[in-house]
Amino acid sequence: MKRAQRIILTGFSGTGKTKVARLVAARLGWHAVDTDDLIVQRAGKPIPQIFAQDGEECFRRLERDALAEVCRRSGVVIGVGGGANVSSENRRILADGGFIVCLEARPDTILQRLRPQLRHDPEARPMLAGPDPLGRIRQLKAQRAPFYALADYTVHTDGLSPEQAANEVLRAWRRLSAAALAADGRLAALAADPTAAVVAPDRPRPDATCVVRAASASYPVFVSWGALPDLGRRLAEASLSGRAFLIADANVHERWGAAAEEALRSAGFGVAACPVPAGEASKSLESAAAIYDWLVAQRAERGEAIVALGGGMVCDLAGFVAATFARGLPLVHVPTSLLAMVDAAVGGKVAVDHPQAKNLIGAFYQPRLVLADVSVLQTLPSRELTAGWAEVIKHALILDSDLLRLLEDNAEAAQRLDPEIAERVIARSVALKAAVVSEDEREETGRRTILNYGHTIGHGLEAAAGYAGLLHGEAVALGMSGAARIAVRLGMLAPKLAQRQDALLARFGLPLCAPGIDAQKALAAMALDKKAQAGAVRWVLLEDIGRTVIRRDVPPPLVEEVVAELTAAQP
Ligand SMILES: NC(=O)c1ccc[n+]([C@@H]2O[C@H](COP(=O)([O-])OP(=O)(O)OC[C@H]3O[C@@H](n4cnc5c(N)ncnc54)[C@H](O)[C@@H]3O)[C@@H](O)[C@H]2O)c1
Repeated sequence: MKRAQRIILTGFSGTGKTKVARLVAARLGWHAVDTDDLIVQRAGKPIPQIFAQDGEECFRRLERDALAEVCRRSGVVIGVGGGANVSSENRRILADGGFIVCLEARPDTILQRLRPQLRHDPEARPMLAGPDPLGRIRQLKAQRAPFYALADYTVHTDGLSPEQAANEVLRAWRRLSAAALAADGRLAALAADPTAAVVAPDRPRPDATCVVRAASASYPVFVSWGALPDLGRRLAEASLSGRAFLIADANVHERWGAAAEEALRSAGFGVAACPVPAGEASKSLESAAAIYDWLVAQRAERGEAIVALGGGMVCDLAGFVAATFARGLPLVHVPTSLLAMVDAAVGGKVAVDHPQAKNLIGAFYQPRLVLADVSVLQTLPSRELTAGWAEVIKHALILDSDLLRLLEDNAEAAQRLDPEIAERVIARSVALKAAVVSEDEREETGRRTILNYGHTIGHGLEAAAGYAGLLHGEAVALGMSGAARIAVRLGMLAPKLAQRQDALLARFGLPLCAPGIDAQKALAAMALDKKAQAGAVRWVLLEDIGRTVIRRDVPPPLVEEVVAELTAAQP
């Protein structure tokens, strides 16, 4: 077996990749290459200028080309940029013939190493710009940790000199690189997406789309076209047995109830069904009480599952009942609206409404599994489907430029529910939500806050419309358009990115203005939200695709200006 002819050093900025690459190359008589240097050469301008003038996406494209170029050479030690191996395409390029060593360091070590540069030239590290570089390092590192873990070997560099770190790299290369490169399935494993298709170690689910790993529970999420007939089998795999109590939106039950019941019966489950009238009015304590009565009459026992079949209304209502009846019954979500698939069914928020406020009475209660059959969206009313795309687009904007491109390239196919495309984009969107929820189950660390992108103005407009004129997704689309205008006027977001966002929302048939909605009412509702958030609205704003910041200092006159624009009568 032959040792690798390329050594690739990955890891966050400040872990010593450039210095260590030079030292290792000198010891082997090889060349050291820094991909960031190559990008600067090829682009003819420094990286901060590429970010500022052309955007992160352009930088990532240049980076991909640079990686492909250096990976055609042998006898090289390659230091790659801190975000390069987030892309699976890049990881495949790097892994093909290269021995990948990740250089690790704690966030405080990284800041200590980068501080002289940040002080001297703050523009040099655009990803770390802002008043709290340590917080930003922690945030970015946490996001990228699953990708850094995809290496053949890791060297923890805290407390090591560059020479010592280089020795560790060389030792690993000598001992391990030949065997690593010859290992079966290595390329696929290193290129696999660590945030999707993560398999729960306790119960193997090789076919799960993703696994939510919340602090209180882990559970698989299955998303595919035609998944419904697998429902009973999936419950059995989750160690459920006995009876399944199907709580279903009446509209959905009419169309899909028989298929769901058949899937459960054929796997040996007894089934009792409780259709609930469609509409938000059913998400009430009265409906929950009626379902409790029904469960008592059925003599439901602990351990028997509640299966929620419907949109977000049923997910929330049936989830609330499951959380509270007999101190908790196992819950299975079978979301049937697009909003429920990519949002309500994943994350464990269950609730009913109070006459004074939506979702006021609720809990965090995670399901045992989620099964989303994308084909059932064919019967979803088209306005509901359109509204659901707003949340998918939101996930792409705040977290995933690859998904954004996929949506842009396939907007029409996604909207007409082309099976392959619809399954792909919805599965990706669900995996993004699952990853965020896994990091912050109960909205305690702040990570989950980014999911509120577009919701500040969106809530205000929804409330001003009396929760009747606008669907939630439509309000979120308007809210994203408003948030982007704010970010542009604060000088945080390039105008062309705001235009790109709005163009995609429009292509998906989502509104960008809401003439007729009372701006003053919307602002008053936002002021109430502000009170509920202890005096400071947390605005989630975009700086770039996949890059959000939380701001509490958006000037009120700017908010008023933007809400007035969104609600102005159109010429
Ligand atoms: N728990 C959470 O994290 C969370 C997140 C977002 C929204 N929500 C909640 O979700 C609810 C909104 O969800 P929604 O938009 O799905 O509304 P919904 O559940 O009221 O469904 C919308 C409409 O679509 C119909 N429908 C659903 N699936 C269908 C299908 N496949 N075929 C035919 N008709 C179908 C329903 O009968 C209903 O008329 C709100 O109550 C909101 O508070 C919860």
